[in-house]
Amino acid sequence: MRSPQLVPAAGLPARVTIYEVGPRDGLQNEATTVPAEVKVEFITRLLAAGLPVVEATSFVHPAWVPQLADAAEVMTALGDAGRDLPVLVPNERGLDRALELGLRHVAIFGSATETFAQRNLNRSLDEQFAMFEPVVARARAAGLDVRAYVSMCFGDPWEGDVPIGQVVDAGKRLFDLGATQLSLGDTIGVGTAGHVTALLDAFNAAGLPDDVLAMHFHDTYGQALVNTHAALLHGVTTFDASAGGLGGCPYAESATGNLATEDLVWMLDGLGIETGVSLPRLVETSTWMARHLGRPAPSRVVAALE
Ligand code: HMG
Ligand code: MG
Repeated sequence: MRSPQLVPAAGLPARVTIYEVGPRDGLQNEATTVPAEVKVEFITRLLAAGLPVVEATSFVHPAWVPQLADAAEVMTALGDAGRDLPVLVPNERGLDRALELGLRHVAIFGSATETFAQRNLNRSLDEQFAMFEPVVARARAAGLDVRAYVSMCFGDPWEGDVPIGQVVDAGKRLFDLGATQLSLGDTIGVGTAGHVTALLDAFNAAGLPDDVLAMHFHDTYGQALVNTHAALLHGVTTFDASAGGLGGCPYAESATGNLATEDLVWMLDGLGIETGVSLPRLVETSTWMARHLGRPAPSRVVAALE
């Protein structure tokens, strides 16, 4: 399989952690139910392709995200292999479900805007912190690792532009609940490179250095990869991506797929930045998944290589 010519560039990190969200963000918006055993195989194949972190599913209300209603079945089938994979939990009920299965990594997901907090969590912007506070406290007390997401960092479909200060306030509040990492979500994929740099500068100024930050780009406007490059240059070393470029949030109007993991790996391989991921095995996995979903993977790199 073709690979990019290796030509390193100055000023970039030697190693990047890819946080794979395909089984969760990638599948949550799929209209046709994907059988639990296919999800389990998808996760197993992604791990075998060398992805160091695979977010497996969500312990949200099953009626809110029917595609992931089989979260317990999937995690049970994974057994020990799933114990360290992160899962989304919005509230204490979600945490209880994850704890019952012995899981060790959870992620809370807040909003930088009022409208998305209401639509995605059925809570006001302020109420979301009250919902997450006991989740993080109890998870940390039980020795779990907690990631926090903040959504609508670069724009909101209902509110339009979102001031950087508002994003930093919400993100810092979520992180300060006791998270170890904050993932900055461009939920609807509208951000541009200068905006990325300015947002990261503002988080650094608020006391959150690049090494506790991750970037979560959706590729709606084709900006995900250039935005990734801007964040790499800034010093961020954790990037969320979805195999094949699947994805989108059912409660965020106009959201399309995440940055495709293959597109990210192609760029990082060309730059000589280590990820531990095998591009051929990943492409094979996304092609296999695309057959199950009945349409080609959105990723440009998958289309070029399959
Ligand atoms: P609510 O209706 O306000 O819930 O929903 P509630 O607290 O009023 O509880 C109502 C009933 O639901 C109760 O049952 C609860 O037990 C039950 P009853 O007592 O009436 O019989 N319940 C649950 N059952 C199972 N699991 C649970 C759970 N919670 C309550 N966890 C809630 C509030 C947060 C639950 C709901 O709004 C929800 O599930 N939202 C999730 C939406 C979602 O998953 N969105 C996609 C993920 S976010 C995303 O994709 C963005 C991201 O990728 C980053 C980016 O791109 O920016 C992360
Ligand atoms: Mg997302």
